[in-house]
Amino acid sequence: METTASVSNGAGPGYEEKENSLGPEDLSEMLAAGTKEVHEKAENTQFVKDFLRGRIRKELFKLGAVALYYTYTAMEEEIERNKDHPHFAPLYFPAELHRHEALARDLEYFYGPEWRSQISCSQATQLYMDRIHQVGREDPVLLVAHAYTRYMGDLSGGQVLKKVAQRAMKLPPTGEGVEFYQFDGIHSAKAFKQLYRSRMNELDLDTETKKRLVDEAVKAFYFNMEVFEELEEIGKTIQEDVLDAGMPVHGAMGGDIS
Ligand code: HEM
Repeated sequence: METTASVSNGAGPGYEEKENSLGPEDLSEMLAAGTKEVHEKAENTQFVKDFLRGRIRKELFKLGAVALYYTYTAMEEEIERNKDHPHFAPLYFPAELHRHEALARDLEYFYGPEWRSQISCSQATQLYMDRIHQVGREDPVLLVAHAYTRYMGDLSGGQVLKKVAQRAMKLPPTGEGVEFYQFDGIHSAKAFKQLYRSRMNELDLDTETKKRLVDEAVKAFYFNMEVFEELEEIGKTIQEDVLDAGMPVHGAMGGDIS
């Protein structure tokens, strides 16, 4: 395990993290423990299992990218609104994390220059967006839970998912269509995740608020699962050959980007 994370966004030179001093009251630990069960549930949704096996239909993958586009648009809009809020400011890493533009480029690749007029927001995605906007406007500290659920997950599986998608859909090796999975501003996902965890732990929050954050993260996982389930249902109505890339599933997302 690395003990030092160094990132160039105001973390200061030689930013040091004492990971050994983490305890059960630390937000990062509470979130990890509190979402363990729902994480397992998310891993076991059919859509996610199929994806990891390389059983990806391009039309569904495109709709997944659309759902992510709306989700990140909402999330990053609310993050911008709250970037100076003391409960979010230390987690503001637009250059490293923000996915809105990468997703816009992916959608342009898949749908062409008129992509904006070709996409629409699904029901499950709309509910997820509505919650993100509500939180951002009314209870911004809870944005931490939404950012954690998406960005930490993306940093945990990005490279593997990118490769699976490229292989299954025969996408170009130069990265078009899967820019979402590529974090150009992050050299070591592992080091960045450590930094993000310690920034969460440094937020000045009482136990009650930390518990509300865990509850909100669990909700965020459920919103994601609803989107997967919706895609799964749409998949049943799409006639298309399944492309089977046949990647081994076990431990497939265990690797970091680094
Ligand atoms: C972390 C696997 C789906 C959110 C991780 C880690 C693994 C993993 C191995 C740990 C990385 C590390 O120790 O640094 C998987 C697999 C999945 C999956 C195999 C699907 C088959 C998801 C989904 C979400 C998600 C759907 C949410 C939308 C997260 C989060 C973390 C994480 C938030 C950080 C946990 C923490 O350290 O606090 N995942 N994941 N994952 N994943 Fe997933």
